[in-house]
Order: sequence, then structure tokens, then C-alpha cells
Amino acid sequence: MRRIIITVDGHSSTGKSTVAKQMAAELGYIYIDSGAMYRSVTLYAIEHGLISQNALDKSALLEALPEIKINFSWDNGVNKTLLNGRDVSELIRSMEISEMVSRIAALPEVRAKMVEIQRSFGVSGGVVMDGRDIGSVVFPEAELKIFMTASAQVRAQRRHAELLASGQEVTYEAVLENLQSRDTMDSERAVSPLIVPEGAIVIDNSEMNQHDQFNMILQLAQDRIFGRV
Ligand code: DC
Repeated sequence: MRRIIITVDGHSSTGKSTVAKQMAAELGYIYIDSGAMYRSVTLYAIEHGLISQNALDKSALLEALPEIKINFSWDNGVNKTLLNGRDVSELIRSMEISEMVSRIAALPEVRAKMVEIQRSFGVSGGVVMDGRDIGSVVFPEAELKIFMTASAQVRAQRRHAELLASGQEVTYEAVLENLQSRDTMDSERAVSPLIVPEGAIVIDNSEMNQHDQFNMILQLAQDRIFGRV
């Protein structure tokens, strides 16, 4: 059976990773969370004193890039992100990282390295990858490209609930503000800005439930796998 590449791009907190993971599990594909890679580089920079709220030691970070090894592991259906062999899956979800990651993701040298690693995961197809530039830059030839969006208020409510559930105390207003500033930075940065990739199918899920959305994307994938499109 044909093993295709599925890209899931879109705004933050639109449920990209949830649906991408479900799709990968259903099709027996690998799932790659490209945002986790930018978050891991950010964690490395914080831990090595290369970034703070108001400063970024860009040259030191670029010098350190070859030392930063990012991998993924799949343990009993659980995806783990490994930074130099250490499981950082939880650490990279903090608000501190969320607040700094856009600055790291705006660096062309960092992006070039991440894109190279991301492409290596797709060489034999059978991959679902989510992010911001996956359908536009990483896999412009992907067989199925999805672009997900939803209103900022709906996205902030979802993210806020997730953070509270994981024990992080944060206000809805702070989450909304962080999300809107990330939207702006992601869409306006010079390198690989967030755009709707050519040929992508746009899904606004403000009013859509996860089940219907999953079925819709699965149908789109099967149409391509079985050559109906
Ligand atoms: O999807 P996320 O929130 O985990 O992504 C974290 C940050 O990384 C976000 O600010 C956008 C950026 N990113 C990117 O620039 N390119 C990608 N392919 C994935 C994420």
C-alpha cells in the first residue's frame, strides 16, 4: 500500500498534534512534532544561559548547534522527545519555553538544521508531521496537506484548560496574549512564515468536534492512499 506524507500546519493550539497523532496511529505511520524540536533547542539555550527574557546570545547558540541532538522515541504508543538523549517531553511544554520559542524559531540557521532533520524522517513516506512550515517548506510535495485554524478565543480556552490540568497556574488572559503574540511572530517572521501551503486543505475547527475532524482527515488520506484523488 502507498505510504504517503501528511503535513498538518496551522495556528498554535488548534489541535494539530492531537489529530496528527491519531492519524499516525490509525495508519501505522510515524508522527513527528516539529514544534517539539524548536522547543528543545529553546530548552537547551535556556539551560546553557544563552537566552533570557530580554537577551539572546545568537552567536553562542549557533556555535552550539552541532551539539544539539534531537530524537524521538515511541514507547507503547507514547511519543517522547529526546534532547541529547534526555527525555524532555514535559519540560518543553512550560510557559517559559512557549514565551521564548518564537525567537529561536525565527533564526534561519536553526530552521535549516531542523528542516534537514525533518526531511530525513520522511524519506520513505509513512509520516505525519505537524508544524508551521511543513507543507510549505519541509515537504512541499506531500500528498496531503492540512492547514488548521480556529478563533484565538477558542484556542486560548483549550490551551488554558490543558495548562491548568497539567498543574500550571496561569490566567486565561496570559494564555490569550501569549498565543496572539506567537501568531504574529509566526506569521510575520522573515524566514518560513506561517502561511497556508499551496494545495493545502484549510480546516477551521472553532465549531467542529475532534471526532468529526478526525474522520474528515482520515477520509482525505484514504482517498490519496488508494489513488481516488
Ligand atoms: O507547535 P508548537 O506550539 O509546539 O511550536 C512551538 C514554536 O515553534 C511556535 O512558536 C512555532 C514554532 N514552529 C515553527 O516555527 N516551525 C515549525 N515547523 C513548528 C513550530
